[in-house]
Amino acid sequence: MSIDFLSRRSFMAGTAVGAAALTLGLPRHLLAAPSGPLALEARPGTAQLLTDEEPATAIWGYQGGAPGPLIRVRQGDEVAVTLTNRLEVPTTIHWHGIRIDNAMDGVAHLTQAPVQPGERFDYRFTVPDAGTYWYHPHVHGSGPQLDRGLSGLLIVDEASPPDVDHDVVLQFDDWRIGQDGQIDTASFGNLHDATHAGRLGNVLTVNGRDFETVAAKAGDRVRLRVVSSCNARILQLGFGDLDPWIVALDGQPVTPHRLGTGPLILGPAQRVDLIVDLVGEPGGRFPVAEVSGEPFEATAIVLDAGEGRAPRAGPPPALSANPVSVPPAKPERIVDLVMSGGAMAFLQEARFEGEVLDGRTLASEHGLVWALNGVAGMPEKPLFSARIGEPVAVRMVNDTLFPHSMHVHGHHFVIYDDAGAPLPGLRDTVTVDPRAETTIGLIADNPGKWMIHCHMLEHQAAGMETWFEVLI
Ligand code: C2O
Ligand code: CU
Repeated sequence: MSIDFLSRRSFMAGTAVGAAALTLGLPRHLLAAPSGPLALEARPGTAQLLTDEEPATAIWGYQGGAPGPLIRVRQGDEVAVTLTNRLEVPTTIHWHGIRIDNAMDGVAHLTQAPVQPGERFDYRFTVPDAGTYWYHPHVHGSGPQLDRGLSGLLIVDEASPPDVDHDVVLQFDDWRIGQDGQIDTASFGNLHDATHAGRLGNVLTVNGRDFETVAAKAGDRVRLRVVSSCNARILQLGFGDLDPWIVALDGQPVTPHRLGTGPLILGPAQRVDLIVDLVGEPGGRFPVAEVSGEPFEATAIVLDAGEGRAPRAGPPPALSANPVSVPPAKPERIVDLVMSGGAMAFLQEARFEGEVLDGRTLASEHGLVWALNGVAGMPEKPLFSARIGEPVAVRMVNDTLFPHSMHVHGHHFVIYDDAGAPLPGLRDTVTVDPRAETTIGLIADNPGKWMIHCHMLEHQAAGMETWFEVLI
């Protein structure tokens, strides 16, 4: 039934070269929030996800579009968004990666009541950090809502942005589309996806389109804000001759360094800001390929025929630092977070709502196939309680046969290498390999109740979620 679209696209890429070039400068859907509250409606709509010759796809989106409006503000500004729910199911908005006031974090049943059909909710918060962020629903089982198209980008501009000629957004999303060109809704919630790698799509879009062409001039310096809104796929993006500099991870600046020869690996929800210098002749073309499966082109930067100029010499300057505090060394307090379950390592038993249930009952009656520290789904007690300002490490032990992209709310963290030294950069989401462990460290400086969960959303729905609290 499902088309092997990723390989189908490998030959379609050839026909997409002539696609209309993205108009650079102001990204599409630009909306500046400070001029007054932005009225955001979650509602059904349609999107041209496939090629122009194919049918439009019925989606759910903010303002009925996929992606939703790009919200762009200055660091320190207030974001004012009024969400109106025009869906038939409850929803919320979570502002992924923003170190936000807990009451505005958008987690149904933890930080707010779900917004019922026909209701509204006012989101008002300031953005402490510059960078590339995104927003999406956060209700129980929000996977289908994201997969139907509910997501958008939130870009926070630096007080003094880097000197680039273009600032380009590349939001990747994979969709599971049937022969009729419509989202395969019949497979939502199936246990096979939940026990394996999650819901993998068969169509990849960039900024909601089948293919994205970015027009620039030889010699230009371009910032690429690469975002994954995939439910479960770990993207591998090949940048060919572009030789990008990595300048930010999950919104947070990192000392500029070359990506190197391998692909850029992007787990669900992760972002990487790149800077590329277009060294080439007018008329040249730089493809960006998805290479996790059969490689195919997803995007290309095409150089105008007009006069080029000499590229800038030397690496791009570092982006200005954000006011994030992280532990300078591995904290003494280390909390274990052990992941178990899934295909080929099925749960024998786990706690669910205070009761120990066997794996078969958990799966058949509750759709739960994963556990964190032996608990399937949200535990009644937090993973840990921290005093405000306390440094805490979380040792994430993946005792399963699948990778998991673990996301921490309200905080950014460092990742320690095997010797216990922090790796460069801060993240809000990290992929932990199968049968491996990763230790992260954060300063618990944001009061409230915060989730930690797998951002492979079918895994989250099937048990991989917990929370911690920061006490004032
Ligand atoms: Cu992007 Cu808990 O979510
Ligand atoms: Cu997972």
